[in-house]
Amino acid sequence: MRFGIKTLDEFELEGKTVLCRVDINQPVDKAMNTLKSINRIKGCVPTVREMADRGAKVVLMAHQGSDIEYKNFYTTQPHAKVLAELLGRPVRFIDDVCGPAAREAIRDLKAGEILLLDNVRFVAEEQTLFEMKLNLSHEEQAETLLVRKLAPLGDFYVCDAFAAAHRDQPSLCGFEQVMPSAMGRLFEKEYCAVSRVMESPERPCVFVLGGAKISDAFLMMETALSRGISDKILTGGLVANILLASAGKEIGKGSMDFIQKSNYGEWIDRAKTIYEKYQDKIALPCDLAYVEYKERKEADVGRIPSHATLVDIGQKTCEEYQKIILEAKTVCVNGPMGIFEEELTQYGTKTVWKALAKSEAYTLIGGGDSVTATEKYELMDQMSYICTAGGALIRFLSGEELPVVRALRHGAGI
Ligand code: 3PG
Repeated sequence: MRFGIKTLDEFELEGKTVLCRVDINQPVDKAMNTLKSINRIKGCVPTVREMADRGAKVVLMAHQGSDIEYKNFYTTQPHAKVLAELLGRPVRFIDDVCGPAAREAIRDLKAGEILLLDNVRFVAEEQTLFEMKLNLSHEEQAETLLVRKLAPLGDFYVCDAFAAAHRDQPSLCGFEQVMPSAMGRLFEKEYCAVSRVMESPERPCVFVLGGAKISDAFLMMETALSRGISDKILTGGLVANILLASAGKEIGKGSMDFIQKSNYGEWIDRAKTIYEKYQDKIALPCDLAYVEYKERKEADVGRIPSHATLVDIGQKTCEEYQKIILEAKTVCVNGPMGIFEEELTQYGTKTVWKALAKSEAYTLIGGGDSVTATEKYELMDQMSYICTAGGALIRFLSGEELPVVRALRHGAGI
């Protein structure tokens, strides 16, 4: 047991059917029926391989895309192909979640075989909108269709989906009510990695917060500062723009319009309160970049043209941030410094990421965009830990007991 949760070491798997929830949610290219990244699939390989090697009949459950943003809502069929390639062994796929075809395929499994079910969110009770609307208890989740239909076919439930540990959905929290349950190897690894930052970070501990996921970034900032986890926060992206606007600085009409259009206007006042409280610990950019007539331009804060749209941090800020990163002993990163996808606007993210790679600190990278940037600059091997989680990581660092952690602790007693 670790953290009050069972691990795979505690189960005798030979010939047993394991229902295993993974998070292999990736951006998809629907036109090509392919995945744009396979990072999360790679992450679950050790757990799947170990279970199959130990003679389990492995049934994988996963979601693909969100019913809220809907863009990546898709079948898990391409994932089966990628997983098979990574494992070097067959992975069967069935285009059913818990209906008769899926149940028959599960019954047909032999020891060491692997089956991936279709997107669990094709079942209404698994959807995030459903979760938000109904707020089912874990006991109620055990009564949902998915759990009622699949639990009787399995001997054990294993959750390897740390990246979805903040979700309160039956495939994640319902099975633990009725089956002996454990966390998978990736879950265990991620839990240890984020606990290390949360509980005993080596100091100085620096957080790099950027990107456009404003509520997540400010939640993380407030928690890291109020709990004394972070000694310094380096800001970039929209997070920095909002803080600058809250301090009454000009950030340009384009940036201001974007903030209002995205309904982030209310964050300006909230950011002001946070900044006033923790001013000495929050680093704001001293210069910023914008694009004019297809050229990158930079200006110091206080001299930003009123028509500008900010797209990156500037060179002086990069120098200052580089220095702080190189002196740090722990760095936790969530969100890029600007629009790193484009050549003219990637300088800040690229420079900061190179400093992270060079630093001797323990570097923890989390969140989809941050991982994509790390992949883009081919720095994956040079960071201490790349976390598959975004939302779950933020909530974990906020000190919340995640629903899946609570459920797994319950399942440890079954
Ligand atoms: C994620 O991408 O953060 C996880 O896969 C959870 O996805 P969700 O936000 O759609 O629940």
